[in-house]
Amino acid sequence: TQVAWELGDIDKGKYAHYTLKEINDQRLTVVHAGRQDEATMEKFCNILASAKDIYITGSGTSYHSALIFKHMLARFGKIRAETVMSSESQYALASMDSNSVLVAISQSGETADVLDSVRLAKNQGANVLSIVNVTTSSLARASDAYLSTNCGPEIGVAATKSFTGQLALIYNVTDRLCKNCLETEKAEFAVAVENIIANQASIIKVAEQMKDASDIYLLGRSLHYPIALEGALKLKELAYVHAEGIAAGELKHGPLALMEKNTFVIMINPRDATFNDTISNAHEIKARGATVIGISDRKDDVYDYWIEIPHLKEEAYYPIVEVIPLQILAYQLALAKNADPDYPRNLAKSVTVR
Ligand code: G6P
Repeated sequence: TQVAWELGDIDKGKYAHYTLKEINDQRLTVVHAGRQDEATMEKFCNILASAKDIYITGSGTSYHSALIFKHMLARFGKIRAETVMSSESQYALASMDSNSVLVAISQSGETADVLDSVRLAKNQGANVLSIVNVTTSSLARASDAYLSTNCGPEIGVAATKSFTGQLALIYNVTDRLCKNCLETEKAEFAVAVENIIANQASIIKVAEQMKDASDIYLLGRSLHYPIALEGALKLKELAYVHAEGIAAGELKHGPLALMEKNTFVIMINPRDATFNDTISNAHEIKARGATVIGISDRKDDVYDYWIEIPHLKEEAYYPIVEVIPLQILAYQLALAKNADPDYPRNLAKSVTVR
């Protein structure tokens, strides 16, 4: 399947920046990415289901997708997998054999660290599966089977639509492996994304407040923890601010000591099984004078600022909608600080050298 003409367009069109265009593209890409050639999907899932051991790897944003994939496989497929950052793979991928599978996730399919991990896996006789956006890439060619995120060229250095595209595919693979155990509401993603984009005012207000912040913490449990990491990465890349993603339950094991007036904390807290515990954390943080921002489908008095996301029937899908306000926040903060959101200093879109 080919991407829609709008997505293949590398013109910014009416948008001020590629990053903004690509954030907006997600209205379509989250739906496109899920659609996949049936035979390829079957091959991909069969290789995965018959593996003795599974390692999932990626760099940067794609590594955060790997964390979500691992979680989804364990929770819904009862399949155990390990995640390895591609830059760490040379120290971690030493015990593979012909019954092992490496799943490599990469937008460009050209990241040197990812290709190194593939070489390591192949040298040990393992199968390689991949999720790529560029289907002509070195990674796609080196794989036994690959799935395409199908979201058109991504020009902005910070990954946006390729990330949610990876997630949409991960959900599809999981749903197949668990024999359709996930609620279907893919079409609603488009509406959900559109709603968040249309109601950006609350996000812009938060960006204004954060303009001079030196530290921003993002907290979430379970599937929301990788999104906390991803939000922190977006803030670092685009807005040049120290931002840290923290598993909310770890608060009492150290980070609580950092909470004081002028600290900004973003709680990623949709209404699911993690909701009450994360609300308790919000109270602990607020009691220390920090500013608490809640990303949730439920308003709560503990939040100084509330960024609303739509309620979803299938709670496993929240990562797709909750990352959008974080992308917008990072973009808006970059503008507020006069940084170029498309080409952050010192960074490259794809790092092809070690
Ligand atoms: C670079 C980019 C990141 C990206 C990472 C992985 O470091 O700056 O934004 O997430 O590469 O890229 P890939 O193409 O492998 O997904």
